[in-house]
Amino acid sequence: MAQNWTPSSWRQKPIEQVPDYPDRAALAATEAKLATFPPLVFAGEARRLKKQLASVADGNAFLLQGGDCAESFVEHGADNIRDFFRAFLQMAVVLTYGAQLPVVKVGRIAGQFAKPRSNSHETQDGRTLLTYRGDIINGTDFTEDARTPGAERQLDAYRQSAATLNLLRSFAMGGYANLENVHKWMLGFVKEGPQSERYRKLADRISEAMAFMRAIGITTENNPSLRETDFFTSHEALLLGYEEALTRVDSTSGDWYATSSHMIWIGDRTRQLDHAHVEYFRGIKNPIGLKCGPSLQPDNLVELIDALNPMNEAGRLTLICRFRSDKIADRLPRLIRAVEREGRKVVWSCDPMHGNTITLGGYKTRPFERVLSEVESFFQIHRAEGTYPGGIHVEMTGKDVTECTGGARAVTAGDLQDRYHTHCDPRLNADQALELAFLLAERMKSGRDEKPTGAWMAI
Ligand code: PEP
Ligand code: CO
Repeated sequence: MAQNWTPSSWRQKPIEQVPDYPDRAALAATEAKLATFPPLVFAGEARRLKKQLASVADGNAFLLQGGDCAESFVEHGADNIRDFFRAFLQMAVVLTYGAQLPVVKVGRIAGQFAKPRSNSHETQDGRTLLTYRGDIINGTDFTEDARTPGAERQLDAYRQSAATLNLLRSFAMGGYANLENVHKWMLGFVKEGPQSERYRKLADRISEAMAFMRAIGITTENNPSLRETDFFTSHEALLLGYEEALTRVDSTSGDWYATSSHMIWIGDRTRQLDHAHVEYFRGIKNPIGLKCGPSLQPDNLVELIDALNPMNEAGRLTLICRFRSDKIADRLPRLIRAVEREGRKVVWSCDPMHGNTITLGGYKTRPFERVLSEVESFFQIHRAEGTYPGGIHVEMTGKDVTECTGGARAVTAGDLQDRYHTHCDPRLNADQALELAFLLAERMKSGRDEKPTGAWMAI
């Protein structure tokens, strides 16, 4: 066990991005109540994910991580969860087929509520209020009341996470993810969209392969892997009081686990070595992520790896790189070289969203071509360095929103106002997400073709 660590030792450290709750007694009461609630995930599941991520670190699988920037209380409903899940499954099947590798599926869902913000306050029409920090902390309305952090919101977030996870588990295990449904995962608007032909062709090929397998006796009835899938949850563990309340000892191993999600990550704004978030994360055994932005220096990264993964366990640490399309070529190679020099085992994942946010006509948006460009560079750089580009981390939705410009449907700056629904950052819509998956699949396939031995270390 990590030295001198307890689930509350982070409280002795400096901390960034914490809300100031005016009612401290209510906060303490809420945290005490949460500590009595059942865990949302079981430690054995987190270990299973870690094992799958170890296989990614070794170049034998690919990580797909994605979902909302911020989940919201008002949009909590079955349709949203189902639409997200099927867009995500479509991406996964495109990647599995293209890369001919297992895809490790991790949603940004069932707990992705707390948001770090660049500014603590926001001014509208001469009035200044606290910024919105996610539904687990305060509300979006521009009123004093809504923006005041309210502890009881944590109970709502917990219950929403439990309900969301419950439905996702039944989709993943109860037949919805059955590969025989591969045609049915097409969403209504995607069916008419620019990706439909490509997807239909791929689904036809999978159905043919399934028919062949059925003929030789391999059926969905006798093969769970054809009708079920592993689906894991993740979020940024920003609100440490909430996380502490859900940190539990696993009775089978005696280790501490965060039970709010299978995987949690540290944001780019809270990764200071001697601060609270790194302190909390070093003591829990889950697989974890670390966002790596343009200001992260190689030496600092190595120190963070020492603190977060001292045993050099494969699958424990995923580095989620989010530089910006025109900065990645300068920033990523030196981080890769430092990690290689020190012999550290990590999963390299690319978040092509967070470095590429711009403002157009008053809307925060992300040009799809910059998102694609960062992904392309990520693959090229790893190929040049001889390392494995293991995954992708995206903000996406199953809905037909207009939040990111570009893509085959060519969303313009003027279109943004049509269906701009995000509670925080702009997300890829289902069409754009699928287009990205096809592009990735092509890159991975060409990498494989260049390496006929099946060695994946330099795709
Ligand atoms: C996020 O993932 O929504 C986020 C805030 O990212 P980052 O910490 O990389 O800015
Ligand atoms: Co975001």
